[in-house]
Amino acid sequence: MTVTSPTALDLQQAAKDHLWMHFTRMGGFETADVPIIVRGDGCYLEDSNGKRYLDALAGLFSVNIGYSFGEEIGQAALEQMRELPFYTNWSYAHPRAIELAAEIASLAPGDLNRVFFCSGGSEAVESAWKLARQYYLARGEKQILGLVTPGARAGAQEPEVVHDAIVAAAQPMPRRYKAIGRHIAYHGTTLGALSINGIPAIRTPFEPLLAEVRHVSNTNRYHRPAKETEAEFTGFLLAELEQAILAMGPDTVCLVHMEPVQNAGGCFTPPAGYWQGVREICDRYDILLSADEVITAFGRLGHWFGSERYDIRPDIVTMAKGLSSSYAAIGGVIATDKVMEPFLGATSMFSHGITFGGHPVMTAIALKNIEIMKRERIVEGVRENEQAFRNTLAQLLDLPIVGDLRGTGYFYALELVKDKDTRETFSDEECERLLRGYLSNALFDAGLICRADDRGDPVLQISPPLVAGQAEFDEIVGILGEVLAEAATLMR
Ligand SMILES: Cc1ncc(COP(=O)(O)O)c(C=O)c1O
Repeated sequence: MTVTSPTALDLQQAAKDHLWMHFTRMGGFETADVPIIVRGDGCYLEDSNGKRYLDALAGLFSVNIGYSFGEEIGQAALEQMRELPFYTNWSYAHPRAIELAAEIASLAPGDLNRVFFCSGGSEAVESAWKLARQYYLARGEKQILGLVTPGARAGAQEPEVVHDAIVAAAQPMPRRYKAIGRHIAYHGTTLGALSINGIPAIRTPFEPLLAEVRHVSNTNRYHRPAKETEAEFTGFLLAELEQAILAMGPDTVCLVHMEPVQNAGGCFTPPAGYWQGVREICDRYDILLSADEVITAFGRLGHWFGSERYDIRPDIVTMAKGLSSSYAAIGGVIATDKVMEPFLGATSMFSHGITFGGHPVMTAIALKNIEIMKRERIVEGVRENEQAFRNTLAQLLDLPIVGDLRGTGYFYALELVKDKDTRETFSDEECERLLRGYLSNALFDAGLICRADDRGDPVLQISPPLVAGQAEFDEIVGILGEVLAEAATLMR
């Protein structure tokens, strides 16, 4: 092992020698420098060369309050460290986990009242699927136990009822374990969450994944037939979902897992009636509906939860990122009273746990984040500014390479096209040249961080901290305007 004294550490060299960055072509750093971000304030970041960047991606769609609350949140973390640096949620509670669960339940719509904490988004999705799998078993067991009177269970009376229950329990119950996700959706990288992902490029290296998942169309309208009405589009999507359920075997499916607005592929908002239809289909086949709100919760769409924005009425919500504005590694699953109910029996439990789930310091940080969001009127601010943000971004539609602007709140994508009239997209080779060969570097050089992404069709994702205002909107559009105009010339 090579040991380098920390005081003498050359960060650039050490990064090249020792750090393995996520989803990163490490070979690219043989000739190029690793970008090293050293500090942040408001919507801005600074690198180790003193260069500043407008972070139009809020970290990873996640630093909702921006970078300036380190002192205040750090103080909350310090106090928690002094009081109780760690204790577990395995059979025990502690004040911050309780307070945070109660706070989240008060902000979440409907009767989403029960919170299970974990360390991030992938774990949240993993936990949601496991919860759905166990929910039907727990519910089934409860029904069987319900047949047995307390006396009979003790063996004193009604032995035939006990016998029936035992026989019933031995029958293969309809076992619900399959899940449905959407094409090009990203739900994390652990094997369960990855299986729900609908992005071939990140699935393929790890195949075979859990086979019990099907993917249905996302709500990308841009490449649908020109004459199709919104109602027809909704009808198509819902019919496809129902067909998938029927093909999988309706009594084997436990979970439909989708984002309120799908991020990967570029901010696909739902057509009118979509969520009401999905809810209705899930009810018809007794399937749990899970809203993946890892990005959309905590203000990104101008509401505490995107489910509220679209009246989704999910049974389960997954959350992470904005819960702490990413000042801490914390995520969680919220369940409705209905989902919780079978787990409230004297002997039942959700057979799942994670050491750091509900960590005292992480929960203290998340609580402080929510306090700051309320005090600074962050969520209201998004609603007040969203139209101005959209109008500013819409100026980019004048460029020949920008085909579509889609999204809502502080969550947008620009689709880049080869031909605006025909909506023709770029080939794989052209995408490589456009996104990785030019745009990513050009934007970074111009001091703007946003994501050039081609997990679906090529898009630029724009998702700034929720404290951004008109000055930041203008700066984003100013830089994008110049860089995209140049990109259009290059690709001609
Ligand atoms: C919708 C969604 N779900 C899950 C995840 C996984 O979260 P994490 O990276 O915290 O594991 C992400 C991450 O971007 C996400 O966008």
